[in-house]
Amino acid sequence: MRLPSLLVCFAAVSLAQPTRFFDDIYNYSENLAEFYSKVSEHINNAKYQSKPSMGCNPSSITLPSYASGLPGPTGVSPMYVALGRGTQNYTCADSTENTIPVSIGALANLYNATCIAANFPDLMEMLPNIAYNIPLPDFEYTALPPANIDLMGHHFFYDSTTPEFNLDTTTSKQYGVAMTKKQDSIDAPSDAFKGEYGAVVWLYLSTTTGTVGNYKSVYRVNTAGGNPPATCKGMPSAFTMQYSANYYFFGSS
Ligand SMILES: *[C@@H]1O[C@H](CO)[C@@H](O)[C@H](O)[C@H]1NC(C)=O
Ligand SMILES: *[C@@H]1O[C@H](CO)[C@@H](O)[C@H](O)[C@H]1NC(C)=O
Ligand SMILES: *[C@@H]1O[C@H](CO)[C@@H](O)[C@H](O)[C@H]1NC(C)=O
Repeated sequence: MRLPSLLVCFAAVSLAQPTRFFDDIYNYSENLAEFYSKVSEHINNAKYQSKPSMGCNPSSITLPSYASGLPGPTGVSPMYVALGRGTQNYTCADSTENTIPVSIGALANLYNATCIAANFPDLMEMLPNIAYNIPLPDFEYTALPPANIDLMGHHFFYDSTTPEFNLDTTTSKQYGVAMTKKQDSIDAPSDAFKGEYGAVVWLYLSTTTGTVGNYKSVYRVNTAGGNPPATCKGMPSAFTMQYSANYYFFGSS
Protein backbone atom coordinates (compact mmCIF):
# COMPACT_ATOMS: atom_id res chain seq x y z
CA MET A 1 0.00 0.00 0.00
CA ARG A 2 0.89 3.58 -0.20
CA LEU A 3 1.58 4.59 3.35
CA PRO A 4 5.23 5.66 3.02
CA SER A 5 4.63 8.29 0.35
CA LEU A 6 1.46 9.28 2.13
CA LEU A 7 3.44 9.91 5.25
CA VAL A 8 5.93 11.96 3.29
CA CYS A 9 3.09 14.18 2.10
CA PHE A 10 1.51 14.34 5.49
CA ALA A 11 4.70 14.88 7.44
CA ALA A 12 5.76 17.65 5.11
CA VAL A 13 2.48 19.45 5.56
CA SER A 14 2.03 19.03 9.24
CA LEU A 15 5.34 18.34 10.93
CA ALA A 16 8.03 20.03 8.92
CA GLN A 17 10.40 22.37 10.65
CA PRO A 18 9.19 25.90 10.24
CA THR A 19 11.26 27.77 7.68
CA ARG A 20 10.56 31.04 5.92
CA PHE A 21 8.66 28.88 3.46
CA PHE A 22 6.30 27.46 5.99
CA ASP A 23 5.18 30.68 7.65
CA ASP A 24 2.02 30.89 5.63
CA ILE A 25 1.28 27.25 5.08
CA TYR A 26 -0.22 26.84 8.51
CA ASN A 27 -2.81 29.49 7.72
CA TYR A 28 -6.25 28.14 7.03
CA SER A 29 -7.26 27.99 3.41
CA GLU A 30 -9.98 25.95 1.76
CA ASN A 31 -7.43 24.39 -0.57
CA LEU A 32 -5.27 23.26 2.30
CA ALA A 33 -8.30 22.00 4.24
CA GLU A 34 -9.34 19.92 1.24
CA PHE A 35 -5.80 18.56 0.92
CA TYR A 36 -5.67 17.61 4.61
CA SER A 37 -9.00 15.88 4.42
CA LYS A 38 -7.86 13.83 1.40
CA VAL A 39 -4.64 12.90 3.19
CA SER A 40 -6.53 11.69 6.24
CA GLU A 41 -8.90 9.73 4.01
CA HIS A 42 -5.89 7.96 2.47
CA ILE A 43 -4.44 7.27 5.91
CA ASN A 44 -7.73 5.75 7.05
CA ASN A 45 -7.93 3.58 3.94
CA ALA A 46 -4.31 2.55 4.39
CA LYS A 47 -5.10 1.08 7.81
CA TYR A 48 -7.21 -1.59 6.15
CA GLN A 49 -4.71 -2.58 3.52
CA SER A 50 -2.62 -5.48 4.72
CA LYS A 51 0.21 -5.90 2.25
CA PRO A 52 2.48 -2.91 1.92
CA SER A 53 3.85 -2.42 -1.55
CA MET A 54 4.62 1.02 -2.69
CA GLY A 55 6.36 2.22 -5.76
CA CYS A 56 6.95 5.18 -7.96
CA ASN A 57 6.51 3.35 -11.24
CA PRO A 58 5.44 6.06 -13.68
CA SER A 59 3.75 3.59 -16.06
CA SER A 60 0.43 3.89 -14.22
CA ILE A 61 0.39 7.68 -14.41
CA THR A 62 -2.45 9.23 -16.38
CA LEU A 63 -3.39 12.82 -17.12
CA PRO A 64 -6.32 14.31 -15.23
CA SER A 65 -9.57 13.52 -17.06
CA TYR A 66 -10.22 17.12 -18.09
CA ALA A 67 -7.07 16.92 -20.25
CA SER A 68 -9.03 14.69 -22.65
CA GLY A 69 -9.91 18.00 -24.32
CA LEU A 70 -6.32 17.99 -25.64
CA PRO A 71 -4.77 15.52 -28.11
CA GLY A 72 -3.88 12.46 -26.04
CA PRO A 73 -0.41 11.08 -25.35
CA THR A 74 -0.49 8.24 -27.89
CA GLY A 75 2.46 5.96 -28.51
CA VAL A 76 4.40 7.50 -25.63
CA SER A 77 4.93 6.57 -21.97
CA PRO A 78 4.71 8.72 -18.85
CA MET A 79 8.18 9.58 -17.52
CA TYR A 80 7.93 12.25 -14.82
CA VAL A 81 5.43 14.61 -13.26
CA ALA A 82 6.51 17.99 -11.95
CA LEU A 83 4.79 20.56 -9.82
CA GLY A 84 5.72 23.94 -11.29
CA ARG A 85 5.75 27.19 -9.34
CA GLY A 86 6.80 30.52 -10.82
CA THR A 87 5.61 33.42 -12.94
CA GLN A 88 4.09 34.05 -16.32
CA ASN A 89 5.60 37.18 -17.90
CA TYR A 90 3.78 39.82 -19.92
CA THR A 91 4.39 43.14 -21.61
CA CYS A 92 2.10 46.07 -22.31
CA ALA A 93 2.79 48.47 -25.19
CA ASP A 94 1.04 51.24 -23.23
CA SER A 95 -1.09 51.58 -20.10
CA THR A 96 -4.50 52.00 -21.69
CA GLU A 97 -7.59 49.86 -21.71
CA ASN A 98 -7.30 49.59 -25.51
CA THR A 99 -4.18 47.46 -25.25
CA ILE A 100 -4.04 43.81 -24.33
CA PRO A 101 -1.13 42.25 -22.39
CA VAL A 102 1.16 40.07 -24.50
CA SER A 103 2.64 36.87 -23.10
CA ILE A 104 6.45 36.83 -23.39
CA GLY A 105 7.33 33.69 -21.47
CA ALA A 106 7.56 32.16 -18.04
CA LEU A 107 10.00 31.24 -15.35
CA ALA A 108 9.27 28.41 -12.93
CA ASN A 109 10.91 25.88 -10.69
CA LEU A 110 9.88 22.27 -11.32
CA TYR A 111 9.55 19.88 -8.39
CA ASN A 112 9.53 16.11 -8.80
CA ALA A 113 6.06 14.87 -7.92
CA THR A 114 6.27 11.63 -9.90
CA CYS A 115 5.68 9.41 -6.86
CA ILE A 116 2.66 11.42 -5.76
CA ALA A 117 1.18 11.31 -9.26
CA ALA A 118 1.75 7.54 -9.44
CA ASN A 119 0.12 6.86 -6.08
CA PHE A 120 -2.25 9.69 -5.30
CA PRO A 121 -3.59 11.38 -8.43
CA ASP A 122 -6.28 13.10 -6.35
CA LEU A 123 -3.65 14.79 -4.18
CA MET A 124 -1.57 15.61 -7.25
CA GLU A 125 -4.42 17.65 -8.72
CA MET A 126 -4.61 19.75 -5.55
CA LEU A 127 -0.92 20.62 -5.28
CA PRO A 128 -0.83 23.64 -7.63
CA ASN A 129 -3.63 25.36 -5.71
CA ILE A 130 -1.61 25.03 -2.53
CA ALA A 131 1.76 25.82 -4.13
CA TYR A 132 0.30 29.04 -5.54
CA ASN A 133 -0.07 30.31 -1.98
CA ILE A 134 3.50 29.48 -1.05
CA PRO A 135 5.95 32.37 -1.57
CA LEU A 136 7.79 32.20 -4.88
CA PRO A 137 10.79 29.90 -4.43
CA ASP A 138 14.34 31.02 -5.24
CA PHE A 139 15.72 29.67 -8.50
CA GLU A 140 17.82 27.17 -6.57
CA TYR A 141 15.36 26.31 -3.82
CA THR A 142 15.64 22.56 -3.48
CA ALA A 143 12.38 21.32 -1.97
CA LEU A 144 8.84 22.57 -2.01
CA PRO A 145 6.07 22.09 0.51
CA PRO A 146 3.33 20.92 0.90
CA ALA A 147 4.80 17.58 -0.19
CA ASN A 148 8.50 18.33 0.43
CA ILE A 149 9.43 17.33 -3.07
CA ASP A 150 12.81 17.78 -4.70
CA LEU A 151 13.82 20.30 -7.28
CA MET A 152 13.69 18.51 -10.63
CA GLY A 153 14.48 21.31 -13.06
CA HIS A 154 13.67 24.73 -14.41
CA HIS A 155 11.16 25.97 -16.92
CA PHE A 156 11.82 29.10 -18.97
CA PHE A 157 11.67 30.27 -22.56
CA TYR A 158 14.60 29.51 -24.87
CA ASP A 159 13.11 32.02 -27.31
CA SER A 160 9.68 33.58 -27.61
CA THR A 161 8.08 30.44 -29.07
CA THR A 162 10.15 27.74 -27.37
CA PRO A 163 9.21 26.73 -23.83
CA GLU A 164 12.22 24.90 -22.41
CA PHE A 165 12.29 22.40 -19.54
CA ASN A 166 15.82 21.94 -18.32
CA LEU A 167 16.08 18.91 -16.03
CA ASP A 168 19.82 19.12 -15.41
CA THR A 169 20.04 20.42 -11.86
CA THR A 170 23.20 19.10 -10.22
CA THR A 171 26.19 17.19 -11.58
CA SER A 172 24.58 13.95 -10.40
CA LYS A 173 21.09 14.84 -11.65
CA GLN A 174 21.39 15.18 -15.40
CA TYR A 175 17.99 14.31 -16.85
CA GLY A 176 18.23 16.21 -20.09
CA VAL A 177 16.30 19.01 -21.71
CA ALA A 178 12.87 19.15 -23.33
CA MET A 179 12.67 21.89 -25.97
CA THR A 180 9.03 22.27 -26.91
CA LYS A 181 6.52 23.89 -29.19
CA LYS A 182 2.90 24.64 -28.39
CA GLN A 183 0.53 22.32 -30.24
CA ASP A 184 -2.82 22.87 -28.57
CA SER A 185 -4.54 24.44 -25.57
CA ILE A 186 -7.85 24.39 -23.72
CA ASP A 187 -9.25 26.84 -21.18
CA ALA A 188 -8.69 25.83 -17.58
CA PRO A 189 -11.82 24.26 -16.06
CA SER A 190 -14.30 26.65 -14.43
CA ASP A 191 -13.37 25.46 -10.95
CA ALA A 192 -9.63 26.14 -11.45
CA PHE A 193 -7.91 28.23 -8.79
CA LYS A 194 -7.99 31.66 -10.38
CA GLY A 195 -5.45 33.68 -8.44
CA GLU A 196 -5.77 37.34 -9.44
CA TYR A 197 -7.10 37.18 -13.01
CA GLY A 198 -7.76 33.54 -13.80
CA ALA A 199 -5.89 30.32 -14.44
CA VAL A 200 -3.72 29.98 -17.55
CA VAL A 201 -4.80 27.53 -20.25
CA TRP A 202 -3.91 23.84 -20.18
CA LEU A 203 -1.33 23.03 -22.84
CA TYR A 204 -0.10 20.23 -25.02
CA LEU A 205 3.52 20.79 -26.11
CA SER A 206 5.57 18.53 -28.35
CA THR A 207 9.34 18.38 -28.32
CA THR A 208 11.53 19.91 -31.00
CA THR A 209 15.17 19.96 -32.04
CA GLY A 210 17.57 20.64 -29.23
CA THR A 211 15.84 18.15 -26.95
CA VAL A 212 18.24 15.98 -24.95
CA GLY A 213 16.76 12.65 -23.81
CA ASN A 214 13.62 10.69 -24.73
CA TYR A 215 11.12 13.49 -24.16
CA LYS A 216 8.29 13.58 -26.72
CA SER A 217 5.57 15.70 -25.16
CA VAL A 218 4.79 17.83 -22.13
CA TYR A 219 1.33 18.69 -20.81
CA ARG A 220 0.63 21.66 -18.57
CA VAL A 221 -2.47 20.89 -16.50
CA ASN A 222 -4.16 21.76 -13.18
CA THR A 223 -3.16 25.38 -13.67
CA ALA A 224 -3.60 27.91 -10.84
CA GLY A 225 -3.42 31.64 -11.60
CA GLY A 226 -1.03 33.11 -14.17
CA ASN A 227 -3.43 35.07 -16.38
CA PRO A 228 -2.88 38.81 -16.87
CA PRO A 229 -5.60 41.42 -16.46
CA ALA A 230 -7.93 41.72 -19.47
CA THR A 231 -6.39 45.03 -20.56
CA CYS A 232 -3.21 47.03 -19.98
CA LYS A 233 -5.04 49.81 -18.14
CA GLY A 234 -2.70 51.03 -15.40
CA MET A 235 -0.16 48.27 -16.05
CA PRO A 236 3.63 48.80 -16.39
CA SER A 237 5.43 47.92 -19.64
CA ALA A 238 6.51 44.53 -18.23
CA PHE A 239 5.05 42.54 -15.35
CA THR A 240 4.74 39.01 -14.00
CA MET A 241 1.77 37.02 -12.75
CA GLN A 242 2.23 34.24 -10.21
CA TYR A 243 1.16 30.76 -11.22
CA SER A 244 1.49 27.11 -10.43
CA ALA A 245 0.71 24.05 -12.58
CA ASN A 246 1.44 20.38 -13.00
CA TYR A 247 3.65 19.30 -15.90
CA TYR A 248 3.44 15.73 -17.24
CA PHE A 249 6.44 14.54 -19.28
CA PHE A 250 6.00 11.72 -21.80
CA GLY A 251 8.75 9.94 -23.69
CA SER A 252 9.30 7.35 -26.38
CA SER A 253 8.10 3.95 -25.23
C1 LIG B 1 -0.72 33.90 7.48
O1 LIG B 1 -0.69 34.32 8.81
C2 LIG B 1 0.36 35.25 9.09
C3 LIG B 1 0.37 35.50 10.61
O2 LIG B 1 -0.93 35.74 11.06
C4 LIG B 1 0.13 36.52 8.28
O3 LIG B 1 1.16 37.45 8.52
C5 LIG B 1 0.13 36.13 6.80
O4 LIG B 1 -0.15 37.26 6.01
C6 LIG B 1 -0.92 35.05 6.51
N1 LIG B 1 -0.79 34.59 5.14
C7 LIG B 1 -1.82 34.39 4.35
C8 LIG B 1 -1.50 33.84 3.00
O5 LIG B 1 -2.96 34.61 4.68
C1 LIG C 1 10.24 36.45 -16.44
O1 LIG C 1 10.29 37.15 -15.22
C2 LIG C 1 11.31 36.69 -14.35
C3 LIG C 1 11.13 37.40 -13.03
O2 LIG C 1 11.12 38.78 -13.19
C4 LIG C 1 12.65 36.91 -15.00
O3 LIG C 1 13.67 36.46 -14.16
C5 LIG C 1 12.69 36.18 -16.31
O4 LIG C 1 13.90 36.42 -16.98
C6 LIG C 1 11.54 36.61 -17.20
N1 LIG C 1 11.52 35.82 -18.41
C7 LIG C 1 11.16 36.34 -19.57
C8 LIG C 1 11.14 35.43 -20.75
O5 LIG C 1 10.86 37.51 -19.69
C1 LIG D 1 11.84 11.84 -9.95
O1 LIG D 1 11.64 11.02 -8.84
C2 LIG D 1 11.65 9.62 -9.16
C3 LIG D 1 11.32 8.85 -7.90
O2 LIG D 1 12.19 9.18 -6.86
C4 LIG D 1 13.01 9.25 -9.71
O3 LIG D 1 13.03 7.89 -10.07
C5 LIG D 1 13.28 10.10 -10.95
O4 LIG D 1 14.56 9.84 -11.45
C6 LIG D 1 13.17 11.58 -10.63
N1 LIG D 1 13.26 12.34 -11.87
C7 LIG D 1 14.00 13.45 -12.02
C8 LIG D 1 13.98 14.08 -13.36
O5 LIG D 1 14.64 13.94 -11.11
